[in-house]
Amino acid sequence: MTGEDLQWGGRFNGPPDAGLLAFGSSLEEDLVLAPFDVACSRAHVLALRGGGIVGDEDAAALLASLERVAAEIGDGSFAAFARESASEDVHGAIDARVRALAGEAGLRLHSGRSRNDQVATTLALYVRDRARRGARIAAAIGEQWVARGREELACGTLLAGTTHWQPAQPVLLAFWMAAAAEPFLRAAQRFGHVARSAALRCPLGSGALAGSTLPLDRDAAARALGFAAPSRNALDAVGNRDAALDLAHAYVRAAVDASRACEELVLWATPAFGYVRLGDAASTGSSLMPQKRNPDPFELVRGKASTLVGAYAGALGTLCGLGLSYHRDLQETKALAIATAEQGLAALAAFERALPACTFVRERLDSRAAAGYAIATDIADALVARGVTAREAHVLVGRAVAGAERENRELNAEDLRALAAAAGLDTPLDAPLTARASITAKRTAGSTSAPDVREQLDSLLLDLRAAEDAA
Ligand code: ARG
Repeated sequence: MTGEDLQWGGRFNGPPDAGLLAFGSSLEEDLVLAPFDVACSRAHVLALRGGGIVGDEDAAALLASLERVAAEIGDGSFAAFARESASEDVHGAIDARVRALAGEAGLRLHSGRSRNDQVATTLALYVRDRARRGARIAAAIGEQWVARGREELACGTLLAGTTHWQPAQPVLLAFWMAAAAEPFLRAAQRFGHVARSAALRCPLGSGALAGSTLPLDRDAAARALGFAAPSRNALDAVGNRDAALDLAHAYVRAAVDASRACEELVLWATPAFGYVRLGDAASTGSSLMPQKRNPDPFELVRGKASTLVGAYAGALGTLCGLGLSYHRDLQETKALAIATAEQGLAALAAFERALPACTFVRERLDSRAAAGYAIATDIADALVARGVTAREAHVLVGRAVAGAERENRELNAEDLRALAAAAGLDTPLDAPLTARASITAKRTAGSTSAPDVREQLDSLLLDLRAAEDAA
């Protein structure tokens, strides 16, 4: 390892300790940034050319070499070169490859550039790409729920709505599916926001922290990379990791959203619930118990969400107490933010693939929907509509439930007559006694009534498409 190999060795007399060099490498974690560093390096060539710092010939040689590096990234040979080169990070590896390919011109690529502005810019490009992918996959998951919601709405499939996992009120399964889609709409919108904010200010041309004495054409670089403008302050630009953290946050949030749906699907696929039949494509067996059908993909997505919370917390933690400007700790932020995004993307993709394997068992869902006195609230509401106070209605229906429970039966028409009498009403009490009647009777916007759920699904679909387009 000599001074030339290292990008920075000139002022040293001996090589760095091999163990410390290895400890300082982020190459494995940041290889995924390679295509974005190539784009960043191309833009830097434009900035150098625009400022007259390199001539046409050198610029052309540099661009041709970068083209070649892009091809080598595509065919996998760059990764082998990078590992062989023992570079500290992907940024150094690409510089080394260009030097190997472009000869004399290659020695000019890093003019006026620091790895500090290079890392910040490359990371912003990566954030933009992965945020757009996140928006697409979150919207696709939301759209999948909308499509399934429409199917179940057409069948009128019911579901025992719960709070605390205890029987609460009957709902339509399509209503649950519309609810399951909502977090993914918000996720798609969040990803879009992340993508747009990572396209505002371009750090390239900030140098190490103070700008450059070379007349770099920062506008040309920013324009070429699709940023709105060059960054305003070099010191901030080299130490800013907000976009990377926002990306990691968006992925961890979406993974947590997926984990909540996974939890319900895992429970619903148990024989005790029997709401969901899991197809072979998303099931696994046991090496010992021949009868087993396990919902591993859903459990793994659920588990992944927890580990990503840890990775995100780690990325955020690395910024605690760091001064402005670049500090090497930021290499950790970079690696953890990338890990969160890559694994979050993988978890969302797995969730999207596993969902079609779930079949909802309609007869079972319908038959359980009203169990556990789930229409009691509607009966109390019917009393309130007739002028009984909410307090009194609650007590009267509560007593009716206790009585039915003693007799081990559901509430019935006889209970309605007794309630009307107890409340001093002179005409019969008109209240739902079935799950379907309870659902049909719902009147508020956003409720589980079929017309409302139809509207929810329609407007969700429009919003999901808009969120995808905006990212
Ligand atoms: N390897 C570092 C990273 O990936 C870049 C080094 C930046 N500059 C420095 N002066 N050490 O963040």
